[in-house]
Amino acid sequence: MSAAEASTTGSSRVAAAAQKTLSAKAERFTESVIREMTRLAMQYNAVNMAQGFPDFPASAEVKEAARQAISDDINQYAITWGAKELRDAIARKFERTQGVRADPEREITVCCGSTEAMMATMIGIINPGDEVVIFEPHYENYGPDAILSGATPRFVQLRPPDWSFDRKELARAFGPRTKAIIVNTPNNPTGKVFTRDELEYIRDLCLHWNAFAVTDEIYEHIIYDGTRHISMASLEGMRDRTITISGMSKTYSVTGWRVGWVIAPPDASTPIRKVHDFMTVGAAAPLQQAGVIALELPPSYYQKLAENYLVKRDRMLGILTDAGFRCFKPSGAYYIMTDISGFDFPDDLSFSQYLVEKIGVAAVPGSSFYDDPKMGARQVRFTFCKKESTLAACAEKLSKLRPA
Ligand SMILES: Cc1ncc(COP(=O)(O)O)c(C=O)c1O
Repeated sequence: MSAAEASTTGSSRVAAAAQKTLSAKAERFTESVIREMTRLAMQYNAVNMAQGFPDFPASAEVKEAARQAISDDINQYAITWGAKELRDAIARKFERTQGVRADPEREITVCCGSTEAMMATMIGIINPGDEVVIFEPHYENYGPDAILSGATPRFVQLRPPDWSFDRKELARAFGPRTKAIIVNTPNNPTGKVFTRDELEYIRDLCLHWNAFAVTDEIYEHIIYDGTRHISMASLEGMRDRTITISGMSKTYSVTGWRVGWVIAPPDASTPIRKVHDFMTVGAAAPLQQAGVIALELPPSYYQKLAENYLVKRDRMLGILTDAGFRCFKPSGAYYIMTDISGFDFPDDLSFSQYLVEKIGVAAVPGSSFYDDPKMGARQVRFTFCKKESTLAACAEKLSKLRPA
């Protein structure tokens, strides 16, 4: 055997060995399409209406609190389940806004964003073979969360235009193996805010099948048209079977700070805390301290936040409608799901590629929110958590788009 042959054989052996050790779980999902669209937006110098991060400043008070915390040398590990002051502030706010009492010592865990809170929850409560009911379209992280935790997802459709669900279909998705249902309200990508009646129907199924409700309430303060956000934990019978997830990212426009939390009954908090501890140890200590100030902001802060987003929502609805999209008007969160049937493209992927490359606007192909890509082939999602100049640039670019 020549030296070249030997080295080829050697390297293919290394490749084969590496292949053998790669994770079968990680093989089952792709990189985030949303974050990939941000990369493409940068590559084509496009306006980024894909990823849900505000491009305007956070509140001066909250930023000053973070600066102060670093000056005060809050620079070492916080307690792994979160700085006490922040857990206390989370408990106060939950009681103030939803009327639900939580014990900061045993029921609240601060994580690196609600992303980690959801992953720690899933890994903490799921056994292989457990089923988790997930509404779709859904925030794309829930798919990998289910795979990595070993859950078998059972998808239930939210149907446009109002994104309601078929109650019989939901009931059929529950069974003796159901460990939990994930409810994201206000919802990304649809903008749906689940009504009390819908939540009560879900509650009854959880009680019947002895299942948890894991609720992602990260958009809890971004709601429109007099809609009310209702926490599942506030419903009778659900206090001890709801795992409520939220965080600072969206409410305080600090998506890069990575501070989120999970509120869960003590039995569920125990494994969640263990997973969290060994996964990340804890969220950034000075930013947790700034969270204490943020969570004590007066009601007027939240009112203003929702009012500002209402203006942006209506502006974006106008921009997209003028450009030829059929829009599904959101009642909450900061996304607009659209139907692209008015354009002559075979699917959402080819349309989104054309949009970012030729028109200069990045959006998210609808298929990334579904298990079966065909379900989202006529849909594209835009965010509007952007300053007016970004929305104006988006309007200008989209005016070049020609419906079929
Ligand atoms: C529904 C939903 N949950 C969680 C997240 C991530 O939140 P965090 O920044 O707290 O990890 C997002 C971000 O877009 C989201 O839309």
